[in-house]
Amino acid sequence: MPDERTTAELKALVDQLTERGNLDDDGILALMLSEDPDANDYLAAKAREVREKYYGKDVYIRGLIEFTNYCRNNCYYCGIRRDNKNIERYRLSEEQILSCTDSGYELGFRTFVLQGGEDPYYNDDRMVSIVKSIKEKHPDCAITLSIGERSFDSYERLYKAGADRYLLRHETADKAHYESLHPEEMSYDNRIRCLLDLRRIGYQIGCGMMVGSPGQKPEHLLKDLRFIQMFTPEMVGIGPFVPHHDTRYADCEPGTAELTVRLLSLIRLLNPMVLLPATTALGTVDAFGREKGLAAGANVVMPNLSPTDVRDKYLLYDNKICTGDEAAECVRCLSLRVSKAGYQIVTSRGDHFTRQNTNQ
Ligand code: 5AD
Ligand code: FES
Repeated sequence: MPDERTTAELKALVDQLTERGNLDDDGILALMLSEDPDANDYLAAKAREVREKYYGKDVYIRGLIEFTNYCRNNCYYCGIRRDNKNIERYRLSEEQILSCTDSGYELGFRTFVLQGGEDPYYNDDRMVSIVKSIKEKHPDCAITLSIGERSFDSYERLYKAGADRYLLRHETADKAHYESLHPEEMSYDNRIRCLLDLRRIGYQIGCGMMVGSPGQKPEHLLKDLRFIQMFTPEMVGIGPFVPHHDTRYADCEPGTAELTVRLLSLIRLLNPMVLLPATTALGTVDAFGREKGLAAGANVVMPNLSPTDVRDKYLLYDNKICTGDEAAECVRCLSLRVSKAGYQIVTSRGDHFTRQNTNQ
């Protein structure tokens, strides 16, 4: 049933959400699904206001290093899942990873995100060695890991080795929807177990979901927003689902930039101090997606620091942007985009507002 609310009513909902930092389910759904351009602009403007209240014009940069595209998982939507035999697999050596962090450090990065498929080659000993080496060379940097589901002990070893933060998207907060997107051997409960373990150990945490993933209903997104409110992660990574040609979802429609941007604003207003990236996937579905994200409450960008010769092998989805650019070029391009959006990149670790703090 289409929502019959007027522009004024929608704006009143935005005001209520801004003032109270919360809104009832009907109100959230009305704003999420609104196609009223004035109300949507108003939502983005309020989210921007709240973001600027806490973070001013600062945009944090996180250097992303995609160090392996081997994956033991088989998420149905993902281009690097185990059963995709059509891609060339790669792994970066510890030396290659260190050379990425060295050049990233020169470029001003103070946070590195090590992201990879769930690759058993990178067992605890290897990961501990990588984390320690980076920390030894760059003790002033934060290390974020994004390497999927592991045991409590493994997470704890990595934390003790010096990892500060962990990104693990919950993907969808609806169990049945989660099961429809993943093979039977993966479980929603284990995903949540991982997030809870990471929190208990002391990591700063990022969760998040894809927007417009196959079978997703507005009610699922509402559950995602409520989950985020309840879980209070330091960071929330969201991006549109983008089909990959070697998956069962090849012919599905991608998630839209518009809905993603509205969700960024809703997340900002529901969780005022959260770190919120304008993601590569958002830049993929819309040439100005990241700028729109920044204008709607996002305050983080994650330039790619992976070596150029492996960039085009870490393809979770089709048409991914930035796969041909040198790290320095990616940074220049993003800085320009950020400043055109009226913001400025800062190189601090950017965790002074977060609830938990550094791991040093
Ligand atoms: N489209 C958009 N995002 C995707 N991811 C994986 N596959 C896709 C896709 N086809 C996201 C997942 C994962 C993150 C690393 O990338 O949310 O957590
Ligand atoms: Fe799960 Fe890639 S196989 S996100």
